[in-house]
Amino acid sequence: RVPVITIDGPSASGKGTVAHLVAKELGFHYLDSGALYRLVALKALQSGVMSTDEKKLALVAINLDVVFRDEEIYLEKKQVTEKIRTEECGNMASQLASYPAVREALISRQRAFRKLPGLVTDGRDMGSVIFPDALLKIFLTASPEVRAQRRYKQLIEKGLNANIAELQKDIQERDARDSKRGVAPLQKNADARLLDTTSLSILQAQNRVLEWFRECCAD
Ligand code: CDP
Repeated sequence: RVPVITIDGPSASGKGTVAHLVAKELGFHYLDSGALYRLVALKALQSGVMSTDEKKLALVAINLDVVFRDEEIYLEKKQVTEKIRTEECGNMASQLASYPAVREALISRQRAFRKLPGLVTDGRDMGSVIFPDALLKIFLTASPEVRAQRRYKQLIEKGLNANIAELQKDIQERDARDSKRGVAPLQKNADARLLDTTSLSILQAQNRVLEWFRECCAD
């Protein structure tokens, strides 16, 4: 089987950054599953689909015309790499991700990223639902305060507006929605290793994942 490393965890934990770096280091493919939910959100916002309309949102997900090329993301041939990172898209994504029909619509699209020499992926249910037979499963987290700071820094660096207090509120709301939803709730499963990055640098977190991966390969 093509080796897969899954990194699941809460909003703004830094899992995307770590997953991306690990993929680069190993020369593996990378899937940012959250980007898919954000793309559905962007398309829905553009077409005026309501966040409560599960059927229409699932159709948006099924018909999503998206290309991931190099470091860029294209929706209907338009580059939207930065556009999907706004809090508006993030909040819409978090809402539509609670619908089973939307999640179902994105399953095969996600599994198609599993190609040689391997895949690193991050999200909420990568280890539990999408790649249950992954070689290494990680649950990456950090304290809510540190996560709000990381998100703040990320948005400011992108030249986007940000307010720490609002971000903290958004993160709390998103945590509650992600962990309480009936389908694919965010939780640490028994077969995932816990990586608390509250007091770790990106490099330390990346190295921990690489060490674990080498251990798994040696088994
Ligand atoms: O880190 P943040 O929550 O801001 O964003 P993300 O990882 O880009 O994901 C956007 C939203 O999609 C999250 O709030 C999750 O609710 C949802 N999501 C999901 O349900 N399942 C995944 N595998 C990935 C993201």
